[in-house]
Amino acid sequence: MTDLAGRIALVTGAGRGIGAATARALAAEGARVIVTDLEAPQALADELGGLALAQDVTDEPGWIETIDFARTRAGGLDILVNNAGLFLMKPVTLTTLEDWRRLQAVNVEGVFLGAKHAIPLLAERAGRWRGGASIINLSSIAGLVGSAGTSAYNASKGAVRLLTKSLAMEFAALNVRVNSVHPGVIETDMGREVLSGVSAATGAGDNEARTAIAQRHPLGHLGEVSNIADAITFLASDRAAFMTGSEVVVDGGFTAN
Ligand SMILES: NC(=O)c1ccc[n+]([C@@H]2O[C@H](COP(=O)([O-])OP(=O)(O)OC[C@H]3O[C@@H](n4cnc5c(N)ncnc54)[C@H](O)[C@@H]3O)[C@@H](O)[C@H]2O)c1
Repeated sequence: MTDLAGRIALVTGAGRGIGAATARALAAEGARVIVTDLEAPQALADELGGLALAQDVTDEPGWIETIDFARTRAGGLDILVNNAGLFLMKPVTLTTLEDWRRLQAVNVEGVFLGAKHAIPLLAERAGRWRGGASIINLSSIAGLVGSAGTSAYNASKGAVRLLTKSLAMEFAALNVRVNSVHPGVIETDMGREVLSGVSAATGAGDNEARTAIAQRHPLGHLGEVSNIADAITFLASDRAAFMTGSEVVVDGGFTAN
């Protein structure tokens, strides 16, 4: 399919996991992709005929440089996927202020800075597409429900959920749509971090922890990166033209229970 032919998309944290899968899915729909991560994902950009850049999403001058790169090297921007993120599983009594601030800096401030600097460029081309321009922010089931041992992560992902809604209200008139995606536990490095955190906290073996977490998802298994990339690609497209401020839950039923 080529639902996104002519669009230019930027995906942060695209070096692996959900970000890399999303870049591949957007490119498969015809978008030109700019992929960023702490180290430039050059091999992925080469594979997709896109562009790569090193970017730390907590760094504001870096965002200014990234958006300038999109303008000058790619010719603009139509889709921003704020995907870069960090996980932490630690009892709150052991969480240092530094831990807390690092999570909020990457997971929340990174999204704020991305929106702040990308929106003027997104708005410039929004009139070209029936569905306007699109920002997709990665929240989580952890932005919808609480769980023991992940307070800093829950707080950060809950903030992304409401930041998304306020951005949606603020920029609807410019036809910049802003939605959040809420994955369940997905088979990525971060998903494995969740499993080893559960294993360490409960004393369960790795296989036991995996089974226990899989069973928390009524569909009975963890998600694949393609499940999330598909939802993001849909939100980026004109098929989601009437969706803004929405929370798209892709969790095998985890939070429906
Ligand atoms: N995997 C899951 O189970 C799951 C569930 C819900 C939500 N999410 C969210 O989805 C997003 C992607 O998760 P994933 O599973 O692919 O994670 P991952 O750990 O596999 O990949 C995250 C990527 O973000 C990059 N990154 C980290 N800090 C960065 C920074 N300061 N600047 C730029 N890049 C940075 C990393 O280098 C890495 O390439 C995250 O926001 C995560 O919170 C993941």
